[in-house]
Amino acid sequence: MVHDSYQRPLRDLRISVTDRCNFRCTYCMPEEIFGKDYPFLPREEILSFEEIERTVQLMVPLGVKKIRISGGEPLLRKELPTLIHSINQIKGIEDIALTTNGILLKKFSEELKAAGLQRVNVSLDTLDDHVFHQLNSRKHSVTDVLEGIEAASSAGLQVKVNMVVQKGVNDQDILPMARYFRETDHILRFIEFMDVGNYNQWNLEKVVSKKEMVDIIHHDMALEPAERNYFGEVASRFTYEGTDKEIGIISSVTDTFCGSCTRARLSANGQLYTCLFASKGHDLREYLRSGATDEEIQDKLAAIWNARTDRYSEERGGESRTGRTDRKKIEMSYIGG
Ligand code: GTP
Ligand code: 5AD
Ligand code: SF4
Ligand code: SF4
Repeated sequence: MVHDSYQRPLRDLRISVTDRCNFRCTYCMPEEIFGKDYPFLPREEILSFEEIERTVQLMVPLGVKKIRISGGEPLLRKELPTLIHSINQIKGIEDIALTTNGILLKKFSEELKAAGLQRVNVSLDTLDDHVFHQLNSRKHSVTDVLEGIEAASSAGLQVKVNMVVQKGVNDQDILPMARYFRETDHILRFIEFMDVGNYNQWNLEKVVSKKEMVDIIHHDMALEPAERNYFGEVASRFTYEGTDKEIGIISSVTDTFCGSCTRARLSANGQLYTCLFASKGHDLREYLRSGATDEEIQDKLAAIWNARTDRYSEERGGESRTGRTDRKKIEMSYIGG
């Protein structure tokens, strides 16, 4: 087991399996930047399934128990169920989940479930097609995502829904989304818009705070706070009074959670990041391809985690609330959130 310089253990590995996506969410891959000529990663630079599996295997003895597959859009990666199946065979992995925009769930849910996937978190920011076309994708519609959610649920996958909230963009959808998902078995989580990446024109005025979101919902449907499910859970949980129906709020801007952050992130091209807001990763791919032994790689991984000092959200809260920085940050589509 390894601990970082603030005594935080390593528990979760978030693995991005592709930097491509079939959506162009304005807050993640704005069309003007991620256009036809955008230099997506060439195949040879992307980690193979064998390389990913080896990394997971070497990280389990260091503390990793939980795997999240992300992208880009992870379901665009060919044969993804095969990877899930092999990770599921690794002793010590207790939880495998996927974060997706949901479009391909109709096609893959059964296969994913059979491969051992337990849960999916589906991104959906609105129920209004007009907003959806502006914010997420001109080629798809809300119904496609809702059908994906239902396909996942019917296949036996547990589903949570993630809504990134931006003032003046989709904050009018907070209540319709809350009402809609209250009637389903899926937990809806409202996410404060974060200053990830370099191109999403983040500013504090666009953030709807956790407090504002709770007030809006509570005014309509009374809420009561619930305990966290596990150490390091990013969402604060609430239930609708008198029911066991639950929502979550992920507040990395106004109410940070770096103190319990146990997450490492592996980008599609094999860079290991110790924070979502990091500007530089550690080149694992070169190491994996250099002929290094398992022991050498494991030592390197342990050393990276031991030296970790990241607590970006907390620091930003203290020093400057603008989120503007000269430092170039890694893009969300490389690191998968
Ligand atoms: P569960 O295991 O279901 O709780 O998933 P999760 O919430 O950890 O993962 P998901 O991919 O659904 O992410 C939801 C939101 O939380 C996204 O906006 C992520 O970017 C954000 N998030 C996840 N981990 C971190 C983190 O370590 N730091 C920050 N700042 N945000 C995070
Ligand atoms: N702020 C907050 N959440 C974001 N996501 C993508 N970009 C941002 C951002 N700037 C969310 C996606 C997905 C998850 C991986 O991260 O909607 O649900
Ligand atoms: Fe694609 Fe998700 Fe980024 Fe939207 S937020 S562009 S769905 S990776
Ligand atoms: Fe972890 Fe960095 Fe997010 Fe803090 S800002 S919770 S250290 S990933």
